[in-house]
Amino acid sequence: MQETETQVLNKYSRTLTQEVTNPAAQAMLYAIGMKEKDMDKPQIGIASTGYEGNPCNMHLNGLSVYVKQGVTANNMVGLIFNTIGVSDGMTNGNDGMRYSLPSRDLIADSIESVVAAQWYDGVIAVVGCDKNMPGAIMAMARLERPAIMVYGGTIRSGHYKGKKLDIVSAFEALGQKFAGNISDEDYKGVIQNSIPGPGACGGMYTANTMAASIEAMGMSLPFSSSYPATHEGKQEECKKIGAAMKLLLERDITPKDIITKKSLENALTVVMALGGSTNAALHYLAIARSAGLPLTLDDIQEISNRTPFIGDLKPSGKYYMEDLLEIGGVPAITKYLYGEGLIHGDCLTVTGKTVAENLAEASDLDFDNQKIVFPLSNPIKPSGHIQVLYGNLAPTGSVAKITGKEGTFFEGDAKVCEHESEIIDMLAKGEIREGHVVVIRNSGPKGGPGMSEMLKPTSAVMGAGLGDKIALITDGRFSGGTHGFVVGHITPEAFDGGPIALVKDGDKITIDANTRQLTLHISDEEMAARKSNWKQPAPRFTKGVLGKYIRQVKSASEGCVTDES
Ligand code: FES
Repeated sequence: MQETETQVLNKYSRTLTQEVTNPAAQAMLYAIGMKEKDMDKPQIGIASTGYEGNPCNMHLNGLSVYVKQGVTANNMVGLIFNTIGVSDGMTNGNDGMRYSLPSRDLIADSIESVVAAQWYDGVIAVVGCDKNMPGAIMAMARLERPAIMVYGGTIRSGHYKGKKLDIVSAFEALGQKFAGNISDEDYKGVIQNSIPGPGACGGMYTANTMAASIEAMGMSLPFSSSYPATHEGKQEECKKIGAAMKLLLERDITPKDIITKKSLENALTVVMALGGSTNAALHYLAIARSAGLPLTLDDIQEISNRTPFIGDLKPSGKYYMEDLLEIGGVPAITKYLYGEGLIHGDCLTVTGKTVAENLAEASDLDFDNQKIVFPLSNPIKPSGHIQVLYGNLAPTGSVAKITGKEGTFFEGDAKVCEHESEIIDMLAKGEIREGHVVVIRNSGPKGGPGMSEMLKPTSAVMGAGLGDKIALITDGRFSGGTHGFVVGHITPEAFDGGPIALVKDGDKITIDANTRQLTLHISDEEMAARKSNWKQPAPRFTKGVLGKYIRQVKSASEGCVTDES
């Protein structure tokens, strides 16, 4: 017998709704308000990281309601559920930040758990902050059923005394305060006006990096990353998702058809072109593993080598994500890159069309009338800003952000911080001086734990006017808002006895982005002697989320995944 459309579309949920052996499940579905006519409709899980405690996530439950309307209008049952969503901007140094990266995997685990356990036929994730997006995509890759990501949208910029502000302005104000360069009134004014309402941090920081590149990868609708959170286009996108999901179900298009080695390359190409966050390296390594695809740090370097950096966006540039919409959004940029042979056009996307077919509808970049995106013939930097460095300080790799503005070579004396918070005191006491290579260790995935971001230290360094005078290296990571001469993701991390654990104050360190080497200038014998005296520290946590994380997490060079042995 030929299957009807409905039998195909509800291939998971029919286990509960159609099988006679599941009367309790059917009774429960009637209890939530479903009627007999609904029982053979496909069921779509709508995962929201909505949470009223931070701007990145505060509006997502509202957007989920629009998504549900679109799902219902397309003769399916939409069921909203929540997962956690912490904000990196509110994690208060190492203590809260320890939970940030682990939250990516908790989000992935919880979306996987609900969708698989409740037999949903498809999943739509409405997500906002840095880790929420890779978390959602990792779950989708594991689940292998039709899936679409909706980005909550970027925040609008704030204003104070005629200056545009964003979240990094608030961090940098602290450094200005240390340096005595800002009045108390202006300090308060910056903090009260940096963020005007809902949305993810407004530069090409991690959230906007992941949103733009996931759109380029094909897992969200065109313009999903370009509409600000409060733009009317965001609501329209949410209402359109139901029709898009229906098409994916009808054609049985799942993430394995969309997330491929080539579409990962498209995503990373957009990251490089726009000067995106170093966190993208971590997250795409993890997404690839969830999809069962081979992707390494060296692949990321190769994409960086061939992709000019052309987006003059914050943190290193002038413009905000909201400005991109005025020049045609991410589709116009991707179309330009495609036209120049840097994007694979034959990858399938959640529209059911290929990248090239979607881009046929995008506008062209007008290089005569905009200054946000540079032409490839005159880039900000001829290759990507994300550089993978090796060397005797990072034998299994590290990730640097070299935009070209800070130069490509730095040599200086080590100033070691055993904990991220020490640098704030050192700055306040004037102990960090021009020429120092500040080493922040014990901040790796296990040692931190959770690989904390160095936004506070780097912003304070910038605010203190030392941004182009010192370098900062760490086994932790950097916020997408970071700029300056920084190297993170150093592996092996200090907790595992990596060479970063052996650095002493005053050691000479060289960061050379030309040879891609991170070098500690001590002899092999000295290195071996220091290693023989090294003892692994006790884990900072043995119980709870962080205790589990320390036991499970893989190295930053492997994406900090937690679901592989
Ligand atoms: Fe959530 Fe920046 S802290 S997007």
